[in-house]
Amino acid sequence: MADSTILKGNQLSKASAAEAYKTLRTNIQFSSLDKQLKVLMVTSASQSEGKSTTAANLAITIAQSDKRVLLIDSDLRRPHIHKALSLLNVKGLTNVLVQSIDYKDICNTVGVKNLEVLTSGPKPPNPSELIGTARMESLITTVASEYDTVIIDAPPVLPVTDAAVLSRLVDGVILVVEYGSTSYEMAQEAKDDLERVGANIIGAVLNRYPIEKKGRYNYEYDQDLLKKQSMRSFSKGVRRA
Ligand SMILES: Nc1ncnc2c1ncn2[C@@H]1O[C@H](COP(=O)(O)OP(=O)(O)O)[C@@H](O)[C@H]1O
Ligand SMILES: [Mg+2]
Repeated sequence: MADSTILKGNQLSKASAAEAYKTLRTNIQFSSLDKQLKVLMVTSASQSEGKSTTAANLAITIAQSDKRVLLIDSDLRRPHIHKALSLLNVKGLTNVLVQSIDYKDICNTVGVKNLEVLTSGPKPPNPSELIGTARMESLITTVASEYDTVIIDAPPVLPVTDAAVLSRLVDGVILVVEYGSTSYEMAQEAKDDLERVGANIIGAVLNRYPIEKKGRYNYEYDQDLLKKQSMRSFSKGVRRA
């Protein structure tokens, strides 16, 4: 069974979560009208803020709109996509980067039409070096031409440089902020780090936003989230997903 925070194929068990992700999908579609956002990366300031959950659910939701989607787990230190989607992680991204295995031979399906998943693969001793290789860049170029959308579940920004390195190779970055956990300073620092290397931050997702009304799920998305002055105001002025 997949993780309970993951949408279940075509039988969405969490209708309000599904609605929130559909809104996120629409917001992304409209966030850049002149430049196509094909390769998107999901990151956050630190660990356990909901990057993998957001990346997996977003990939599922985009695939459900009849787009061919590839989800890649690039968090080589703390990979989670295979656990969230109940996949084995015997072979994955690290095999592509180290052994030149064709990604097509080791992509997984998860019972969602149009969605394929490349898990992280075995843990390498040198994650940052691998993420920064020319092979990673060429993999992204290849998959961008073969799928409508590529979602990359990335490492966190503050502890390691991998996310900043990756952010330069993608079309857009989504920053996850965990309500009640990520401090304003951390979120701002992560945003600054990404902007310093020229990343295109297309928006932020406020994860675990408290459910006020029964049946509503806890995701928020707002392009201006990080412009707000404090964490408390994050929860006030934001648009409900
Ligand atoms: N909105 C949410 N509601 C409930 N549980 C969540 C939510 N977002 C994440 N989680 C859970 O919190 C844990 C950390 O989330 P994860 O997506 O793995 O974070 P990250 O990738 O940032 O380290 C996982 O067990 C996940 O299932
Ligand atoms: Mg993760």
